[in-house]
Amino acid sequence: MLICQISDLHIRAGRGLAYGRVDTATCLERCVAAIDALDPQPDLVLATGDLVDRGEAAEYALLSELLVPLRPPVYLLPGNHDERGALQAAFPAHAYLRQSPPFIQYVLDEGPLRLVVVDTVVPGRTGGELCPHRLDWLDRTLRAAPDRPTVVAMHHPPFITGIGFMDRLGLDDPAPFAAVIARHPQVERVVCGHLHRSIVQRFAGTVASTCPSPAHSSALEIGPHGGDGYTLEPGGYQLHWWSGSALVTHTAALGDWPGPFRYRA
Ligand SMILES: [Fe+2]
Ligand SMILES: [Fe+2]
Repeated sequence: MLICQISDLHIRAGRGLAYGRVDTATCLERCVAAIDALDPQPDLVLATGDLVDRGEAAEYALLSELLVPLRPPVYLLPGNHDERGALQAAFPAHAYLRQSPPFIQYVLDEGPLRLVVVDTVVPGRTGGELCPHRLDWLDRTLRAAPDRPTVVAMHHPPFITGIGFMDRLGLDDPAPFAAVIARHPQVERVVCGHLHRSIVQRFAGTVASTCPSPAHSSALEIGPHGGDGYTLEPGGYQLHWWSGSALVTHTAALGDWPGPFRYRA
């Protein structure tokens, strides 16, 4: 099974520039083209939040258009820049978005990997939280299939990255979430967005990771004041390959370069 993760698309209405500088629509178009060119094709694409920039209906309308050419089925989850109602309204065929109101939490149970999505959004806030209601749902959902290898997906990573500016805008108190995850050893990975960069940490008996954005990246500045800015280094996406016994993650950069050249001509 091959899962493609994309994150932090930050689409603006009318193909507007994020921060007056970043052409996020073109970045997503390039990312969709790169995914469509993959062989083999991913079984699904998971977009881990900040799908649009301001949570507006016109932004979701453009996002929906930009995702039309994507060949694999796409599953969406919200980030702090999203607005749940507008997201649901723009994707009426995506019934999973309404599986557990008032949050956007859901389970994809068909493939060899079980995918459990939790909603870390607090409307009006940049940081995220997992309240007792959401954590109870997660605990019950994981308890229902203890033998199924599982990926948990959410927007805000549950760990400190060292990029101080972003860490102050992270998930409130990750300890209760860590306690839930630690009870369920079938969790192969916690995949997240929000950081606009590929970062990995051992977490609660599993591994937690973040995915790059196809657009702007958080500045790679480790320290208490680091990351208060972004760069236009090549964006990217991730491929999570389930081998049947392990989840292996590849981070791909977006851009044009020569190759591949075969080792034997
Ligand atoms: Fe973001
Ligand atoms: Fe975010």
